[in-house]
Amino acid sequence: MANQKEERHVISRRGFLKGMGTGAVATAILPELPSQSVEAEETTQEITEATITLHINGKDHKLTVEPRTTLLSALRDRLELTGTKQVCDRGTCGGCTVIVDGRTVYACMTLAIDMEGKNIRTIEGLAAGDELHPVQEAFIEKDALMCGFCTPGFVMSVAALLEGNPDPSLDEVKEGVSGNMCRCGTYPRVFEAALAAAQQMRGA
Ligand code: FES
Ligand code: FES
Repeated sequence: MANQKEERHVISRRGFLKGMGTGAVATAILPELPSQSVEAEETTQEITEATITLHINGKDHKLTVEPRTTLLSALRDRLELTGTKQVCDRGTCGGCTVIVDGRTVYACMTLAIDMEGKNIRTIEGLAAGDELHPVQEAFIEKDALMCGFCTPGFVMSVAALLEGNPDPSLDEVKEGVSGNMCRCGTYPRVFEAALAAAQQMRGA
């Protein structure tokens, strides 16, 4: 009896449809369950975890994740890289900004499994040992933070901007950080810090 129950439990919808074998049932049910949908459903059900390697701040990290795991969750919950902040968790604030292959992305809107083979940089990897990155130095010097929750995201956006454009105008700085929000309203000082860091990096 127990075996019968188990057997009933594991039978798939596809198996059920195959097993019925009556024209009437097939005609009644198949138009609503195209074979591709059934296959997609079965595939989705089968993949529960994947082992991936993420290249972060120059090091490889092997971890097992669910397909739905975001890069943000992998960084914070699995690798203890908590400098990348979780604020809105829905792609609106920029608190989770990291640099992937030279471009800023929202880690909360990026799947970890899509990041294999990419060069991921987080706020933890910006300083060179004990020496802060010029953008970090400029944020301190210009007092460009209050609560600091948005700061790692802003710093990463400014760092990415300056790597692509070492001499940005104020408008270009504003555009470069337009995906980041600061609830404390430190924008003028963030802009000032970005321009100061640019100057410092150009050696002027
Ligand atoms: S936490 Fe990712 S954009 Fe806000
Ligand atoms: S410094 Fe508080 S949110 Fe920006």
